[in-house]
This record gives sequence, C-alpha cells and structure tokens, in this order.
Amino acid sequence: MATPLHPDIDRVLISSAQIQERIVELAAQIDRDYADERPLLLVGVLKGAFIFLADLARALTIPHAVDFMAVSSYGMTATSGAVRIILDLREPIDNKHVLLVEDIVDSGNTLAYLREVLTSRRPASLRTCALSTKQRPDAMHVPIDYLGFTIPDVWVVGYGLDYADRHRTLPYIGALKPEVYR
Ligand code: PRP
Repeated sequence: MATPLHPDIDRVLISSAQIQERIVELAAQIDRDYADERPLLLVGVLKGAFIFLADLARALTIPHAVDFMAVSSYGMTATSGAVRIILDLREPIDNKHVLLVEDIVDSGNTLAYLREVLTSRRPASLRTCALSTKQRPDAMHVPIDYLGFTIPDVWVVGYGLDYADRHRTLPYIGALKPEVYR
C-alpha cells in the first residue's frame, strides 16, 4: 500500500523507490570510479545529507570512511553566499580521496564554499555527489560529479530536506504546500 501523503505536502517529486533505485546506480558508478583509489572518505554535509549519506554509504561495496561537516549562512545574508564552518572534519585529508556528499544544491553557495575549503587542504582528489539540484538559472556553477536528480525550483522537503527542521524523515522528496511556508 502506498504511504499516505503528509498533509503539508503538495505532491511527491521523487518517490522513495526512485531515490533508492538511483542510489544503487550512483553507488555502482562510485564503486567503479574509486576501485583503485584509496583511501576514500565520504564527507556528508549536515544536517540535510545524513539520510542520503547513510543509504549511499551502505550501497557502496568499496572500503570507505565517513565524516561530516556542517556550515551555516552568516546571519541574514544567506543570499550573499557567505557561509562559515560550524563543524569540521576530525582529521586532515591531505592523502585522501574525498567525496563531498550533499542532499541538495540550490544556489550552489554551500558546495562552492566547501569545495574551496577542502581543495585548500590538498586532498588526493575531491569530487562532489548530490542527490538533487534545482533548476535555477541564477545558481552558481559548481561541478557535481555524481548527481541524482534535477528538480523544479520549489520548496522541497523529505529525505533529509527540511522546512524549519521538520519533514526530514519523509521517505520521498515532496513539494511543500505554499500555505505552509508563506
Ligand atoms: C541545505 C542543503 C545544502 C544547502 C544547499 O542546507 O543541505 O547544504 O542548503 O543550498 P545552497 O546551494 O543554496 O547553498 P541548509 O542550509 O538548509 O541546512 P540543513 O542541511 O542543516 O537543513
């Protein structure tokens, strides 16, 4: 039986089955690409990426370690692109192949900033993986090496994505009803 739609959700954009199917494909691609690259470190960007990272990591068959970073926008200047690190990696990455894992790339600010920060630490390599990105003509161009889905530019929640810290544990990615965030 299908999961009933949460009352705050307008429509499902990506079903749980579609997400899981795509994760298997992404993991197979990552398995192949990193077959000869060791050590591999998956870096999840909190909070949103924790669910995607958990499923992706378990779908991989190659050895890897997991760590997390968290960033925050400076005060009210979210649109300026200014972000700061509020949780950093536990160890240096200078000899590691790093795969940065995001739930969503929206304006591109977070991923662009983290790529810059991690590149300056001279990892053996740095690539990016995002479950989703929005169709936004004004977004910064940031390379996404492994991309799950491109979604419309609407407020989305579920599968790690939140509205005011809610709805992260919905199994699908859904569009929020406008009356919920207005
Ligand atoms: C979301 C998401 C990304 C970022 C993407 O995090 O998890 O990290 O926004 O947006 P951008 O491309 O415009 O920078 P958010 O700041 O909502 O924090 P959260 O993950 O803790 O919910």
